[in-house]
Amino acid sequence: MAVEDSRLKGFHHLSVSERLNLIKMAAGLSDEAANALGSFAELDCEAADRMVENVIGTMSLPIGIATNFVIDSKHYLIPLCIEESSVVAAASNMAKRCLKNGGFFTECDPPLMIAQIQVLDIENIAAAEEALAEARDSLITQCNDVDSTMIRLGGGCKSILTRVIESQIGTMLVVHLIVDCQDAMGANAVNTMAERISPRIAELTKGRVNLRILSNLAVHRIARASAIFTPEEIDNSGDREKGLAIIASVLEAYHFAAADPFRATTHNKGLMNAISSIALACGQDWRAVEAGCHAWASHGRAHYSSLTEWWQDDEGNLCGRIEVPLAVGIIGGASKIHPGARANLELLGVESAQELAGVMAAAGLAQNLGAMKALSTDGIQAGHMRMHMRNMASSEGADSVEIEKIAVLLEDSSETITPQLIRTTLKHLRDDHSSCNNNVD
Ligand code: MEV
Repeated sequence: MAVEDSRLKGFHHLSVSERLNLIKMAAGLSDEAANALGSFAELDCEAADRMVENVIGTMSLPIGIATNFVIDSKHYLIPLCIEESSVVAAASNMAKRCLKNGGFFTECDPPLMIAQIQVLDIENIAAAEEALAEARDSLITQCNDVDSTMIRLGGGCKSILTRVIESQIGTMLVVHLIVDCQDAMGANAVNTMAERISPRIAELTKGRVNLRILSNLAVHRIARASAIFTPEEIDNSGDREKGLAIIASVLEAYHFAAADPFRATTHNKGLMNAISSIALACGQDWRAVEAGCHAWASHGRAHYSSLTEWWQDDEGNLCGRIEVPLAVGIIGGASKIHPGARANLELLGVESAQELAGVMAAAGLAQNLGAMKALSTDGIQAGHMRMHMRNMASSEGADSVEIEKIAVLLEDSSETITPQLIRTTLKHLRDDHSSCNNNVD
């Protein structure tokens, strides 16, 4: 229902329940809808109200556990917070198929973030760059001259770079602070640093500072994961010849994504299904992760392309590798405040931001193979619709007993699972039921 007036004066001064009541009235929400919005689970009302403005409730999503992950010789149970069926199953399934060669291996850069300072109206860019280069050490000292645990633990600003950017409004100098954020994602730390240092940057460059903000293209914070899948592991029945045929189709799928941005976007979306849902489960800024990964997919390349690489080795094994910028942290932000995020980090058992990034990269690689394998064999709809069957039955009005009966009836069906098939099955169930009742009567 459309609201008549979206100007809710003084809305932010109300309590959470007052806000919800007002919204219920203004939007004509049903009791059911208002109760759904106002029911709090692990994130309680007070904590939610402190996190963002104008809170009226919270929203939950399923957390599914991806199993079978061995990463750098350590077992992980990986929580994925996602609304889409098949993702958790596909990741778990693919993780099982590289165990012969030890699972996944990762290599993650130190947690270096970039803060950008935009400097305009500089008369002599070369002189400005020289002045910054001369003052480099003292600028770094000034950046790090704060009482911060991150700096005490060895983090802080490590170097300063400059870039000259030609734009439609003229030349600008952009200063990059390269900051070691230790186990934090680092947004607050680097933004504070950039704001603190900018008057000095303006002075040294004889220019005018405008923006001071981190870059989500975290090129110094790359997480890499790789794995090797034998042909026998790739085929469901362990048949080498069939496995080799699947590998050939998977490689065709990969080369399509590598060559075509239209395909690469969907290919990368698939692997981000895993990466972003771990980010969400662990209280990370998943929008930052998404922005960084997609930008990386075209960074320094002729066009937007695949975030993974796949090839076959001399023994016929399928080898995969992923490289993604992952600015994630295990201290600070929602990872600290949100009880669900804290619990998921505890479940993962990661001890550093780098370790979390490695797990996310490995899950992304597994997910990518799962999607390519499904797409280049049966297609994804059969499996997807089978997983989605219970949702569809619920949307068609089936109650929980009917949902389970439909699932059992259609489990081994060779028919494609469609809403129409669900509707017909539900109708048959109900017809059978009422004819049984009639007989009894
Ligand atoms: C759906 O969420 C993800 C896929 O489209 C990924 C892909 O096409 O590779 C299946």
